[in-house]
Amino acid sequence: MSMTFSHRTLGQRVLSGSGQAAAHLAAECERLGATRVMVLASPGRRQLAERVCAGIEVALRFDRVVEHVPVELAEAARAAAAAHGIDLLVSVGGGSATGLAKAVALTTGLPIVAVPTTYAGSEATDVWGLTEGRTKTTGSDDRVLPVSVIHDAELTRTLPVGLSVASGLNSLAHCVDSLWAPRADPINRALALEGARALAAALPAIVADGGDLAAREQALHGSYSAAVAFASAGSGLHHRICHVLGGTFGLPHAQTHAIVLPYVLALNAHAVPALSARLAAALGHPGPADGDPAVAAVAALERLREALGAPRRLADLGLTERDLPEAVRRILAAAPATNPVPVTEQDLMALLTAALTGSAPAATDRDQSAREQELRESELADRAVAGFAACPDPRLRRLLESLTGHLHAFVREVRLTEREWRGAVEFLAEAGHRTDDKRQEFVLLSDVLGVSMQTVAVNNEAYRDATEATVLGPFFVADSPEVPLGGDLAGGAPGTPCWVEGTVTDTDGKPVGGALIEVWQADEDGQYDVQYPDGRVAGRGRLRADRDGGYRFWALKPTRYPVPDDGPVGRLLAAAGRSAMRPAHLHFMVTAPGHRTLVTHIFVEDDPQLLFGDAVFGVRDGLVKRFADQRPGTPAPDGREPGSLQPGGRAWSRVRFDIVLAPGE
Ligand code: BEZ
Ligand code: FE
Repeated sequence: MSMTFSHRTLGQRVLSGSGQAAAHLAAECERLGATRVMVLASPGRRQLAERVCAGIEVALRFDRVVEHVPVELAEAARAAAAAHGIDLLVSVGGGSATGLAKAVALTTGLPIVAVPTTYAGSEATDVWGLTEGRTKTTGSDDRVLPVSVIHDAELTRTLPVGLSVASGLNSLAHCVDSLWAPRADPINRALALEGARALAAALPAIVADGGDLAAREQALHGSYSAAVAFASAGSGLHHRICHVLGGTFGLPHAQTHAIVLPYVLALNAHAVPALSARLAAALGHPGPADGDPAVAAVAALERLREALGAPRRLADLGLTERDLPEAVRRILAAAPATNPVPVTEQDLMALLTAALTGSAPAATDRDQSAREQELRESELADRAVAGFAACPDPRLRRLLESLTGHLHAFVREVRLTEREWRGAVEFLAEAGHRTDDKRQEFVLLSDVLGVSMQTVAVNNEAYRDATEATVLGPFFVADSPEVPLGGDLAGGAPGTPCWVEGTVTDTDGKPVGGALIEVWQADEDGQYDVQYPDGRVAGRGRLRADRDGGYRFWALKPTRYPVPDDGPVGRLLAAAGRSAMRPAHLHFMVTAPGHRTLVTHIFVEDDPQLLFGDAVFGVRDGLVKRFADQRPGTPAPDGREPGSLQPGGRAWSRVRFDIVLAPGE
């Protein structure tokens, strides 16, 4: 419990003595110099009010007292006070009478002497409330705090037992909620626990005998301590819950408090074991001190509720299961951040469901439930992995066990929701529907997740100065047209002609004569031939290195283009704010016996897209090549003039790519 706090004690005089209300009121009038007293009491409390006022002269009796203080009533009372030159307000009754006196004091500044006849506790606070139409406004103001409170238990002896219990449990809720309310501190906690002690002792005795004066004195004392604690600590989770249930769903105040309180206690008790122990003791829990204090506190409150025959089910007050989601939402928005356990949607739903049906409140040990949950989850993951233990193929077993283990870890780590799981399944199904012999949405998915490139990396470990590998992509075609050395594989596709030349050697620098070089590329519009609607072959070809490993051909200078983004993978990229673009590149597959097959591309050094990244993570520094752009008319290495039919010829480009093959199959 923190000893750093700021506490405010409200200045108020309390005069206590059974049978002494009249004398105490007379003394207060004298002390305050009051001569024009207005008494506010409902017609039902008229006789009590007469007893209280026996020793003074009353200038005005105001008996139009109703619940929730409607604004019109407050106006009428203020006007009457002004018309009669009133200099002191005396309220006799419960929360409604005190509330009306406060409404008058709020605008007139008149002092109040409050004589409570229930356990509502309003007399101890500076909080006022006014109702206009169906909207209740509350606030706090020093002017509405009664200057004096007169406790006379004789006046409460005739309070019906049912009302005494409802009002008393409402007061007990002030005590319990004060333990963890936003401004809870050691001072208001001490008062709250004293209030709980007094109420727990008094209420069962009142149930046994409504006229038990000693019990009535205890109850008045307890409810006042509770209210002082509550006024100082503010309202905690319990009161926010009851406020929503009363305000939005019209549930009656006192019964709602009586039903909800043990569930809030059960939610919080484990998180505040020391307070729980003190509360259990205050509520008269007889158990040994070494028991679980949280369980003890909840049990003690339950015993008290049973002894008092308190209401148990919110359903009996008219709340239904259909109301719960809205209630949860509203409570969540108002839940105090200071609550001992962070309040979650699930907690609130469980709490309200239990209170709705009256199931026994059980103190939840979060740490233990968390441990149990953790155990359940890891056991399931273990069993799912173990499901492949008997797989006869050891490699398959390894793959399935590891994949399953990682999937379970993923689901647990992100706390995957069922909705998200369904979304993922739908996404994969759509990827399946988008896939045919021309389009492979799953490979594309693997590509944009970097999984294809990772697989390339794992399988093509660096070997001396061998050329690095990168992704294959979806546009390779096995039987591309044969192109002679020096031939043109553009096949009429649009773009800037590009002379590509180089050698194929092994890592010792020895030529790999006759190596098969397969090349494919997109045209300047970013289209591969397989994407053309007319089935024409262009931008691809296969050729063989000469005896010295040399090769040369005409192609197109590559340009950047987006990966196919009109399917589910494209939507994923868009949702993630990622670009679908790949930097300009020319694909190669180089095959020669005794060498590791090389799948790679070369990138264009001055392509700005290189700076913005590659949607499939395929760029490797060693693959970025200088493409030297040539002015129109510059003679080509083979003597050809690209675009010779055009006036002035055409610009063209050239690049050198020396390929080094690692040894292998
Ligand atoms: C490609 O470079 O052709 C490519 C690679 C991965 C996904 C889509 C296209
Ligand atoms: Fe490509």
